[in-house]
Amino acid sequence: MERKFLLVGNWKANKNESEIDQWIQEMSPLFEVITKNADWLTVAVAPPTLYLRYFKTKTVGTPIQLAAQDVSGYPNGSYTGEVTGKMLAETGVKYVFVGHSERRKFLNESPTLIEKKVAQAISEGIVPIIGCQTIEEVPATIRNFDSNQYVIMYEPFEAISNDAGFHPVTSQKIDQVISDWPGKLNLKIKLVYGGSVTEAMVADLKTIPNLDGAVVGRASLEAKAFSSIIKSLVA
Ligand code: PGA
Repeated sequence: MERKFLLVGNWKANKNESEIDQWIQEMSPLFEVITKNADWLTVAVAPPTLYLRYFKTKTVGTPIQLAAQDVSGYPNGSYTGEVTGKMLAETGVKYVFVGHSERRKFLNESPTLIEKKVAQAISEGIVPIIGCQTIEEVPATIRNFDSNQYVIMYEPFEAISNDAGFHPVTSQKIDQVISDWPGKLNLKIKLVYGGSVTEAMVADLKTIPNLDGAVVGRASLEAKAFSSIIKSLVA
């Protein structure tokens, strides 16, 4: 593949330390493959915040980058319970999800808070991966930043896997959004897709010319499934 591609595993609220150990162990045969393709492929994983440090320690020397699932909209200070961009950066976090549709829906995250989170991440040199189901959800404030400081994730809520299984939107639909949004926004943006990504659809994703990456939730929990996705990406 010639274009750069960002693959991020989103573990959501799953796994404990021994499961992390097992996952890393099972993924280890892929480390060489990822390293060999590092000029165009970046692979990151977002464990739960509590395990960021643990995951980081266990993956030292591997090509897996650290991502976080959330960041505070506030800097260090009197904000009880918050985990700030500065703390994440000091832990080695390179990417962070902001405005994921699950947080917009279940945690009532507002567009204003999402804009604050984007600004906090960027001020600490962390790339926010901004979840947007529609073009209206793309924060207006991204215009204040350089297009390589953030990534937009097209992730329709209905495409996210659930107990009923995987139900991605079609690659035609993804292609259409990926092609439309930059022009409509009049911005050069990096766009990744999230929602029921499995090995079965990687071949289709690869045919979308301007797609800059994919976010994988459920299928990243099993090292075997995540490895298969990487194998088909590099094939
Ligand atoms: P899914 O989740 O791959 O399980 O659909 C994607 C995401 O929400 O990040």
